[in-house]
Amino acid sequence: EDAAGQAHFDRIIAEDSRIEPRDWMPAAYRKTLLRQISQHAHSEIIGMQPEANWITRAPSLKRKAILMAKVQDEAGHGLYLYSAAETLGQTRDKMMDDLIAGKARYSSIFNYPALSWADMGAIGWLVDGAAICNQVPLCRASYGPYGRAMVRICKEESFHQRQGFEILLELSNGTPEQKQMAQDAVNRWYAPALMMFGPPDDDSPNSKQSMAWNIKRFSNDELRSRFVGMMVEQVRVLGLTLPDDQVRFNEDTKKWEHGPLDWHEFQEVLAGRGPCNAQRLERRRAAHDDGAWVREAAAAYAAKQSAKQQK
Ligand code: 3HC
Repeated sequence: EDAAGQAHFDRIIAEDSRIEPRDWMPAAYRKTLLRQISQHAHSEIIGMQPEANWITRAPSLKRKAILMAKVQDEAGHGLYLYSAAETLGQTRDKMMDDLIAGKARYSSIFNYPALSWADMGAIGWLVDGAAICNQVPLCRASYGPYGRAMVRICKEESFHQRQGFEILLELSNGTPEQKQMAQDAVNRWYAPALMMFGPPDDDSPNSKQSMAWNIKRFSNDELRSRFVGMMVEQVRVLGLTLPDDQVRFNEDTKKWEHGPLDWHEFQEVLAGRGPCNAQRLERRRAAHDDGAWVREAAAAYAAKQSAKQQK
């Protein structure tokens, strides 16, 4: 225990200021940040898969170029976040090993299949929309490297959400079959997107402490409710509907409410038994193995350069 360090830490948090990598911090603060940031980084990397599967089937050159750029952005987000996590003393190799071994968490949402082109629209609009809603407050997270990484990520996510919205808008204004395809995609992604915000507040063991440390700024249910309110407006512009007839604004609490979610399904996905968990991890393992020669070549090159410098 470091009394002076603790006092400094407490003051920084009370002032709503920032903790930086060289500052003293409680072990539990470091641990929860590593838990959240590495989970977040893995989500970005695994999250490339559902959309990457559609790059070869994009309906036009323009759509293909946009989708490739978007998937590439997600890789970049993963890299900023792994770097932020490394400042807490964890190596990227260890994080990657944990992911590949199936020991690390990543967002539940990426264990659902992308079945049609319209899913590219629904993922951009709903999934990236939920990500923005969750991540804008994280730009003010008390840990400096995490908050700063989030600023750039949120800017790029805004573009991603617009491109998803635009795909859906175009399909919705297309043939009846295209409009139906858009509605079907929204129907399938709506509930999983709401579950991205995490378990209900009463079942969220980490929220209270993370909020006290100014890592999280709002509870899971609060952000979920705000998200529903945003989507309710936007779905009208799309000419589509949300698959939830219980969405309403509660005048007493001034909050948006939604229908019940299947939390058993959420737990199953977290336990590795969602529709695509096995496939996603298998693909990540294969990509890691396929990239072994690149890592070996980079290490050999670095060794050669440092040997040269020592001569
Ligand atoms: N998927 C998988 N695991 C989840 C989850 C979800 N949707 N929601 C919660 N969990 C896990 C938590 O990680 C925690 O597990 P752990 O204790 O083993 O780490 C457990 O369920 C209990 O949940 P809590 O509410 O207590 O956990 P948190 O306080 O950490 O809150 C969170 C969960 C809101 C997801 C928070 O961690 C968070 O804001 N994370 C950063 C954002 C993030 O990870 N986003 C990924 C979404 S997708 C994305 O960014 C890609 C985009 O480009 C499309």
